[in-house]
Amino acid sequence: MQKTTVLFVCLGNICRSPTAEGVFRRKLIARQLDDQIEIDSAGLGSWHVGKAPDSRAQHAAASRGIDISMLRARQVEAADFERFDLVIAMDHDNQQGLDRIAGSRYADKIHMMMAFSELPGPDEVPDPYYGGEGGFDQVLDLIDAASDGLIDFILGKRHG
Ligand code: 4NP
Repeated sequence: MQKTTVLFVCLGNICRSPTAEGVFRRKLIARQLDDQIEIDSAGLGSWHVGKAPDSRAQHAAASRGIDISMLRARQVEAADFERFDLVIAMDHDNQQGLDRIAGSRYADKIHMMMAFSELPGPDEVPDPYYGGEGGFDQVLDLIDAASDGLIDFILGKRHG
């Protein structure tokens, strides 16, 4: 079966999208889908390229048994829209930034992460960078809620 490829995108690629990569990978492994769905993350900005995730994001993920320390930030590039089937934005600014790079040809690949959540709550994953520690737990909760829906969306698309 052909692999589905998913890119998680935020602004810096040091808080939300590496968290999404870590949470999503754990769910894929738990559902034995990690050989069928390939994932990565990237940021729209270049400030943190090459850096490990923010220590607050690492700690919050580690408190739930998820290790994201090995991830390194990279910037979104035009080729990502060729490489990936789905490009998942954490917030509306990210979505607009992706729309600008993608152009109309790849617009259908871009989705908001929280569109896949079935729980009531915000429609985006808020940027936790300038907030307190609690923001990182909220990021994990929101991403956790949306990840199951995203996996189901991918599986439904394949079978549909
Ligand atoms: P992220 O968080 O987009 O979730 O990785 C941010 C990280 C860094 C900055 C902004 C947001 N920054 O302005 O440097």
